Amino acid sequence: MITREITEKLGKHETPFYYYDLEMLRETLSVASGEAVNRGFHVHYAVKANFNPVIMKIITGYGFGADCVSGNEVEHAIACGFPAGETVFAGVGKSDAEIEKALRLDIKCFNAESAAELDVIDAIAGRLGKKAPVALRINPNVEAHTIKHITTGTDENKFGIRIPELETVLDRLEGLQNLRYRGIHFHIGSQITDLHVYRNLCTRINELWQWLTDRGFGPEDINVGGGLGISYDDPDRFPQFAEYFDVFRKHLDSRIQSTISFELGRSLTANCGSLVSRVLFVKPGAAETFVILDAGMTELIRPALYHASHRIENLSSSGPVKKYTVVGPICETTDTFGRSISLPETRRGDLVAIRSAGAYGEVMASRYNMRSLPMALFSEELQ
Ligand code: LLP
Repeated sequence: MITREITEKLGKHETPFYYYDLEMLRETLSVASGEAVNRGFHVHYAVKANFNPVIMKIITGYGFGADCVSGNEVEHAIACGFPAGETVFAGVGKSDAEIEKALRLDIKCFNAESAAELDVIDAIAGRLGKKAPVALRINPNVEAHTIKHITTGTDENKFGIRIPELETVLDRLEGLQNLRYRGIHFHIGSQITDLHVYRNLCTRINELWQWLTDRGFGPEDINVGGGLGISYDDPDRFPQFAEYFDVFRKHLDSRIQSTISFELGRSLTANCGSLVSRVLFVKPGAAETFVILDAGMTELIRPALYHASHRIENLSSSGPVKKYTVVGPICETTDTFGRSISLPETRRGDLVAIRSAGAYGEVMASRYNMRSLPMALFSEELQ
């Protein structure tokens, strides 16, 4: 919650900026880590959600590994204190230079997404005189029932190795001397709130585990990916960590002895971050009243890109509630944070918070319209 006292302090800073409530971050991490450890699970933090070094360094204190999707993320995660031996590298298009960098850093595992990628990792590892640890990212063809744009584990998606190709990939793997097979990896999508979907993933994992074990490819590690959703309507509510991990505890085959790890991004960092902005103008339209903020899609692109909705709060006003369309200053019609939003009567200069923006917010900012990249402000440095 952003109290009156915090608002006063936020008001002293030039907008727009990201505000991170580090106490909320720590509480979220502590709940997530406790619920995972209680069930014998490991968590890797999905760095793509927020790579701000202050946030990353705090996360390292909770025993999480790192899930990366670029050579730079691998390097950054290790520099922030994540152990290289707990860092994994996924992604459909790893470049040779990125593979080499990760090999030299001795990461835990490459999550390989195609047979061709296995050949390339093998060749580079051979040249460096190393044995590359690899897991196969399998596309389980499980529908995630989330926003179409952030679904990753169905047949139409570019991610992972399709199940019908697995036999050929295993044959290939056997011939590659510079690889060490560690296990399997899945990720079906993001912002998943229907936990039933994970039950379907468990069923698919159980089938694949049996099939691989029968062929002598029993996995040492099973990485089930991330995707746990949050409540964008209620930014102060904790994600359902216990219920989420329980689905896997209950529905993964009890004969599986592999290490089970998760790759959580949004559920760990979204709630602690808000985009703080000022109202530049309140402008009457033909049928609606526009609130024009000094932050736009360049600072938070999710609404423009996915029609995602974030809770918008006017921190300055306690006037009668009215309906507004909240937009940014960018020269695009999609630069809209929300239509018909109920806010207390809003005026030029009011401070506005766009909540649950700690994941996929600051990291997706752009310089379109030659805007400056947003600054970050942390609760512990507020005066
Ligand atoms: N593992 C892999 C392989 C992933 O691709 C992702 C997210 C995660 C883990 C973490 O998922 P999470 O727990 O955060 O749901 N920009 C979009 C989200 C894209 C997610 C991409 N992959 C958004 O703003 O909603």
